[in-house]
Amino acid sequence: MERKEEKKGFSSEKEGGIWFTFSRRNLLTLAGWGLFFASIGAYLSQIMGYKGFFYPKVLFEPSPRFSVGDPKAFSENSVTTLKSRKIFVVRDGNSFKAISVVCQHLGCAVEFSKEKNIFECPCHGSKYYRNGVNFAGPAPRPLNHFEIILDDSGRLVVDTSKIVPLETELVV
Ligand code: FES
Repeated sequence: MERKEEKKGFSSEKEGGIWFTFSRRNLLTLAGWGLFFASIGAYLSQIMGYKGFFYPKVLFEPSPRFSVGDPKAFSENSVTTLKSRKIFVVRDGNSFKAISVVCQHLGCAVEFSKEKNIFECPCHGSKYYRNGVNFAGPAPRPLNHFEIILDDSGRLVVDTSKIVPLETELVV
């Protein structure tokens, strides 16, 4: 009988050391618990999101205020499309305007037609005059105009978080 117990594990209570005896049953039990806790951990990490749990949920967006460069870089009586910023810089003489490319119907990007000198929406045919006022199609109102100023270094700065009245212009 004593011999049988000796075969069971590394040590026994009799030897006064380890609580766990090495046997196939104990090994399987331990593996079962390990698997159980591993699945709980995997489930919780799915729910909380590993990174989301440790980092604040912040949306990184580019600043709405940005420089578009030297006024001289825009030729007189021109419309320059800045696709990445979703604006048109319209220069008439020494006057500058920053106009949104976002159509006021359903948000498509309008395009400037040099031949017709108007903005046209490719989605449902809305049309806007060069000053952004709508005159055809389903668009219910003019294109948004954004604040445009000169900074201390003489560069044009647009702030797309500030919508200004249509008449607003920067004269340089
Ligand atoms: S989104 Fe421009 S006309 Fe519909």
